[in-house]
Amino acid sequence: MAIVGGMLALTALPVKAQKWEHLADTPQMGWSTWNKFQGNITEDIIKGIADAMVETGLRDAGYTYINIDDCWHGKRDADGFIQADAKKFPNGMKAVADYVHSRGLKLGIYSDAGTETCAGMPGSLGHEYQDAIQYARWGVDYLKYDWCNTTNVNPEGAYQLISDALRSAGRPIFLSMCEWGSSHPWKWAREIGHSWRTTPDIWCSFDSLRVFPGYSQFGVMQCIQLNDSLRQYAGRGYWNDPDMLEVGNGMTENEDRAHFTMWCMMASPLILGNDLRSMSEATRNIIMNKEMIAIDQDTLGIQGLHYCDRGGLQFWFKPLAGGDWAFTILNPTKKDIACELNWQDFNLTDTQVSKLSTNFDAVVYKVYNLWTHKMEGKTNRKSKTDRKLTVKAHDVIAYRLIK
Ligand code: GLA
Repeated sequence: MAIVGGMLALTALPVKAQKWEHLADTPQMGWSTWNKFQGNITEDIIKGIADAMVETGLRDAGYTYINIDDCWHGKRDADGFIQADAKKFPNGMKAVADYVHSRGLKLGIYSDAGTETCAGMPGSLGHEYQDAIQYARWGVDYLKYDWCNTTNVNPEGAYQLISDALRSAGRPIFLSMCEWGSSHPWKWAREIGHSWRTTPDIWCSFDSLRVFPGYSQFGVMQCIQLNDSLRQYAGRGYWNDPDMLEVGNGMTENEDRAHFTMWCMMASPLILGNDLRSMSEATRNIIMNKEMIAIDQDTLGIQGLHYCDRGGLQFWFKPLAGGDWAFTILNPTKKDIACELNWQDFNLTDTQVSKLSTNFDAVVYKVYNLWTHKMEGKTNRKSKTDRKLTVKAHDVIAYRLIK
């Protein structure tokens, strides 16, 4: 501040802290306790999952975060610092973080902008800076910040506050915003968080709602439908989050494959939700499909385009770095559907986001099947590229079109 001509002049206005940068150049990948275990979590489960993440090869495939969701909390101490539940985490949260780090992984934790979390644990309201300091001290790398019990709390203010607190605490911590899309965070949170939920909670169903008094959980198709219209808001550093994966939790193999494919097509966070210590070979093959993961993690960072619906099928395109495209036909129906594929039908330009064109008239792509891992010819000659395909019920056919 300076005195200028007898007036007080502000030389330095307070500047809003920026969120931690480069934590989300591609969508985050990891695992969370919630979908499988809800509140029944322990240190042993977390350590076992961390071990499985390494032994199964998932860590090396890019799954980095082990996220502890709701119900890890004990009480606040006399100074207001939150403690872990001593029964579930007898060695404290720092020991868990140390273990997870020793396996080459990162630790995520969970809190809520309100008085209590959704499961009734202590929320962060009024303790934001203290909580951020505590997480940083423990060695936490990721915070999912929920939205229950927030009467009279302003969403933009609350998420800016925790983002500033995380920045001030000095340790890079990913901020996963979880207010279910209620206040359209995609319109204001680009500089605040690294991802934001766009949907209510998912449940393990391909295409149905699970209705409770006052709220509903969404199936895979309902999540896709809500997330679909928001592609212009996502990009490198800030992702739409249609919720965590239910692969391996009880849907059919076709449904799990379609679910995983569509999350990759939409550049969604890939947060696994199954018990990695005891999964089937089929589940492992889906979540370990590195060529499909590469579609999700593509450095162009464009959420896929739902181009058209024909004959009951959905046709999706995702532009990739270097001129390739990912292409998926999704069958949301309960019947197998036959179709004829003619690439010339898909001469399109993504006018909304990337401005890129498929340009099938001029460019010849090699067609690589992302689930059979086989080349299936090229897109040039009509007679060769017109194909008769059958897309199974609740399944996908997915290609990488290679320039
Ligand atoms: C909310 C969130 C879920 C989960 C639970 C935990 O419902 O949306 O993802 O974190 O709270 O109680």
